[in-house]
Amino acid sequence: MGMTVEQLEAAKARFGELLAEQDKRVEAMKAQGDFIDYKTLDKIIIGVCGGDGIGPAITGQAKRVLEFLLKDETAKGKVEFKVIDGLTIERRAALQKAIPDDTLAELKECHVILKGPTTTPRKGDPWPNVESANVAMRKELDLFANVRPVRIPEQGIDWTFYRENTEGAYAVGSKGVHVTDDLGVDFTVVTSQGTERIIRAAFEYAKANKKTRVTAVTKANIIKTTDGKFLDAFREIAKEYPDITADDWYIDIMTAKLIDETRRRDFQVVVLPNLYGDIITDEAAEFQGGVGTAGSANIGKRYAMFEAIHGSAPRMVAEGRAKYADPCSVIRAAAMLLSHIGYQAQADALYKALDICTVTEKKLVMTGHEDGATNEAFADYIMETIKGL
Ligand code: IPM
Ligand code: MG
Repeated sequence: MGMTVEQLEAAKARFGELLAEQDKRVEAMKAQGDFIDYKTLDKIIIGVCGGDGIGPAITGQAKRVLEFLLKDETAKGKVEFKVIDGLTIERRAALQKAIPDDTLAELKECHVILKGPTTTPRKGDPWPNVESANVAMRKELDLFANVRPVRIPEQGIDWTFYRENTEGAYAVGSKGVHVTDDLGVDFTVVTSQGTERIIRAAFEYAKANKKTRVTAVTKANIIKTTDGKFLDAFREIAKEYPDITADDWYIDIMTAKLIDETRRRDFQVVVLPNLYGDIITDEAAEFQGGVGTAGSANIGKRYAMFEAIHGSAPRMVAEGRAKYADPCSVIRAAAMLLSHIGYQAQADALYKALDICTVTEKKLVMTGHEDGATNEAFADYIMETIKGL
């Protein structure tokens, strides 16, 4: 045997710790109440967390747009903004924490959060290999539903992805075990509670938005235990929604079918485990113009976070070009935030303005360089457009 008894025992002990953590999570999910009802709150606190790189620049512009749209609400004391600037890679690296404690406490004072991109350290970076701030925030605030819409009206594409956001390959993604120099193991986690709540959220969204089809994507033919459980739960819950067609695909053929122009427009709502959701939503966003055009909502029962899904572009900052970084993705995330907390008219106005400013009228063009517009000018353009609606 290549593995020593000590190595085996250490791996078993580690596995035991991971199981205990996950078991605790299950109990916490069981104890959880219902979704927060924003209408019952005296005041909604909106956190604005710039993140790294170009994040503070573009998120700052999205905040201006939000403040403009919520001017009356802020004056009435119904809405308050809270800027949270401690989530930088420098601080996370210095403190060796995915989210510094004081920053996490500030995030927890908010109801909803608008977040810029955060640098995810990877092997070979100058940064220590701490867990991704993104992933940590989703776990800490239990933001289990990652909702990513992709719309291309002229091609008949109107997809909404419901990606499970706290389990699967991500649950203990940074805590795998190097059993020996030759043997490494990672874990995929599934729970009944975690699976049911995301699948139900997808069906409820479909029902509320008059969608007629919900598709589950797994690899349950191979990953039999965890994906198998996800698929079983999907089939069970689907029975409660007889008016909605429920079908399932394996992730490999699903990635292919999204390219098939004769079939892809048939998909409507897609629900899937974490890693598959991560992969396929990048593919889907690419048809719409790239990940930079997409916004993403991370929704839990108590908190919700809205983010741009592109990176932090440190090179743009190093070259002094942060002010030319395109704020569209995070402004789109701001529109999702407005709609989530019940300001649908403001959200609709913002979506309309985004469409005018980036597709139909396009008076300003962002290139990321000096020859393009600044993000401040772009935010002004959005606000002017809204005034003219
Ligand atoms: C995303 C990103 C993140 C993920 C990274 C930045 C941790 O790719 O939001 O899809 O893997 O979930
Ligand atoms: Mg991704």
